[in-house]
Amino acid sequence: MTLFRARALDTPADPFAADPRDPSALRAGEDVGIVVEDGTITERDDFAVVRESHAGEAVIDLRDGWLLPGLIDTHLHYPQVRAIGALGMPLLEWLERCALPEEQRLADPDYASDVAGEFVRSLVSAGTTTALVFGSHFPVAVDALFAEAERYGLRITSGLVVSDRGLPEPLLVDPRRAASDQAALAARWHGAGRARYAVTPRFSYSASDAMLDACAEAAAAVPGTWFTSHVNENPAEVAEVGRLFPHAEHYVDTYDRHGLLGPRSVLAHNVHASDAELAVLAAAGTGVAHCPSSNSALGSGLFPMRRHLAHGVAVALGTDVGAGTGFSMFKEGLQACFMQGLLGAEGVPLSAAQLLWLTTRGGARALGLDEVGDLSVGRQFDAICLRPRTGTTLDIGLRHVDSATEALSKIFALAGDPDVADVWVGGEQIASAGLRRPIR
Ligand code: GUN
Ligand code: ZN
Repeated sequence: MTLFRARALDTPADPFAADPRDPSALRAGEDVGIVVEDGTITERDDFAVVRESHAGEAVIDLRDGWLLPGLIDTHLHYPQVRAIGALGMPLLEWLERCALPEEQRLADPDYASDVAGEFVRSLVSAGTTTALVFGSHFPVAVDALFAEAERYGLRITSGLVVSDRGLPEPLLVDPRRAASDQAALAARWHGAGRARYAVTPRFSYSASDAMLDACAEAAAAVPGTWFTSHVNENPAEVAEVGRLFPHAEHYVDTYDRHGLLGPRSVLAHNVHASDAELAVLAAAGTGVAHCPSSNSALGSGLFPMRRHLAHGVAVALGTDVGAGTGFSMFKEGLQACFMQGLLGAEGVPLSAAQLLWLTTRGGARALGLDEVGDLSVGRQFDAICLRPRTGTTLDIGLRHVDSATEALSKIFALAGDPDVADVWVGGEQIASAGLRRPIR
């Protein structure tokens, strides 16, 4: 067993369900004892209480930092690490000029393996321990991602991206081949360690009805797999999907009519959602990954979070690397807060506790991972310790806060990858004071 002593912040209860200004929305302990056995948190209480029953045990004292649950990113693209930072283009132009040329390079297994290494190390550096990841169009590259994630023990849900129209030819595959490639990858990786498989048509813009049927077939071939895609991101994309699917009721229906939406589905963006679409998502129990920095970078629009919540659609956050501008979920939370503010009365004024929930326990809920998301007894010990360098603005701010809520606000405003000092997944430390190393 391991006994941790820490200043800990987490959100075990959904702060959207209660009054967000209620201080109990954020659970903050100045001096918490956490006992971890075989990766699971088995005790948590004031340190003095936990100490009594573990008198002789060595203590890992983290009180010089801030202990948070491991961060959860519900939407990003592995082949786009090197495409981050292209600004000033709307979605379809950005795909054509930036993302898709880079994605074609992953046909080369050596290139893919290098990118997989960069991608996984970037997740760890940002303190992200769980992610729903858009894979590559090439099976060998998807294998490289799962293998690399396994070396670090990250909780990755991912899959082969499939398309049969509307993209450069090297990224296309016929639906029969897509069904068998997906089923083979799912059989190999779904449930292998912490990996799970997600059936992943890129978006209806690049998938025929036959391809979406093939996706449903692949999902049925390996029970328990997940489903992910994009929806309602950009007005030109939405209009083209309407033209391509004249019999669909709306964009969400292009997936729903193929039986692809359920509680194990997550759709990214949904910026331009109708009430009818939100009702379908809520009835299906499908979650939405809101990606605010991507929505800003591509000028996609302001996410209607209030309407999602009113319909009962589960919302979490994603970086959407590489349209998104980096791996930090703190930056994503901050951007979500800014953008909801810009919506005025139609926005949700997000509290620090809500940001933490959206980037931890809310993400776990959207991904159906009850074992992670906060630091309660029974959960896996997936955690990060923030320790800003002395003299940085975050360090100064945190040394002068009057409350845990104030500290958390400063963390979302100011924290970045260099502040993530230690990272644990399932009780195993995979990063320590800036050194990122695989554990197996
Ligand atoms: N829609 C289809 N593919 C993509 C992608 O790679 N990034 C974003 N943001 N939207 C997409
Ligand atoms: Zn995306």
